[in-house]
Amino acid sequence: MNGREIIRRCGLLAQQTEEPGHITRTYLSPPMHEVHRLVRSWMEDAGLITHVDAVGNLRGVYGDGPRLMIASHLDTVPQAGAFDGILGVMIAIALAEQRPPCALEVAAFADEEGVRFGVPFIGSRALVGDPVMDECVLAAISHFGLDPARIPEAILDPEVKGYLEFHIEQGPVLEALGAPLGVVEAIAGISRWELRFEGKANHAGTTPMSMRRDALACAAEWIGLVEHVAQTTEGLVSTVGKIEAWPGAGNVIPGLAIASLDVRHALDEVRERALNVLLDGAEHIARRREVKLSGESRLEQPAVALDFEMVEEAVQAAGFPVHRMVSGAGHDAMILARKVPAAMLFVRSPGGISHHPDESVLAEDVDAALAVGAQVLREWRPE
Ligand code: HGY
Ligand code: MN
Ligand code: MN
Repeated sequence: MNGREIIRRCGLLAQQTEEPGHITRTYLSPPMHEVHRLVRSWMEDAGLITHVDAVGNLRGVYGDGPRLMIASHLDTVPQAGAFDGILGVMIAIALAEQRPPCALEVAAFADEEGVRFGVPFIGSRALVGDPVMDECVLAAISHFGLDPARIPEAILDPEVKGYLEFHIEQGPVLEALGAPLGVVEAIAGISRWELRFEGKANHAGTTPMSMRRDALACAAEWIGLVEHVAQTTEGLVSTVGKIEAWPGAGNVIPGLAIASLDVRHALDEVRERALNVLLDGAEHIARRREVKLSGESRLEQPAVALDFEMVEEAVQAAGFPVHRMVSGAGHDAMILARKVPAAMLFVRSPGGISHHPDESVLAEDVDAALAVGAQVLREWRPE
């Protein structure tokens, strides 16, 4: 299987969506049944022995004894592109198809983005003994036809001695360098919160400005602070990607606003300091506006250093330029790194765009990733 066929398969899977006209596929949503059918058939054609684990990850094993896991995720953000996650699963299957000299496990994780329930890494966390056990998740598992009581069986097999993930870069760096591939040396840490601003709904026409407790205006002032802190802190990114206001009528002052917060940095102490500034700032703004503030953490994921040497040597041996980089995007590799040496190889993102329908890859870059993957499998030995 070459880069062109892999891109074709990613396009096929992109048609499995919750949102006609867009690519939207969240945790254990209905289109995931067809995705499992398609991917499972490709896995079995490649010689993998497959099963679906209790959290909905599709797993396939090739060979016996100590093995390398090659994996990524099947879910997407809303109105996504066709390659985030999926490309890594297709490359893993293509490498299994080559009947490598070492045993492999391919994993297609059911949820990495955390869109449906606001908690990411539901798929890979089950492999490291840290399953998400929220009632809503367990209900979704049962509704999909799986058995929550069997979640412990999803644990990583002790025979898995290493982890490798291929993924689109999702940024502009490799394109700017004219490099097809990137060796990921670390993944930035991520803090995700949900903040709730409770003011008082009232009539938009009759309520004087001095008498308002406008929840959305309060959140809006805070969002300005979120952007300002990131703009003035080297290497920090912070985003409010989702905000909802109630009751949601144009002539009613919003009484309630709920906002997401995503803060990232390569250094944990910088990220944690910025998070505290933003949470304290929200408290200060809410108090001044007599708005009640509450919030809950959805993810505290430290930055993770990866075991990139093996991949770097393979990139060199395959004749491609080596570029080491830190990933600003989170990946399942940061979860598996809790248990086994983990590595990632990035594939160039034309236009540097991702989490968007314009996301793309070049067939020749996918072929380059396949060549490096084959080189890794020729050299890999369990530690
Ligand atoms: O949000 C991220 O960094 C990744 O796309 N899940
Ligand atoms: Mn993503
Ligand atoms: Mn991804």
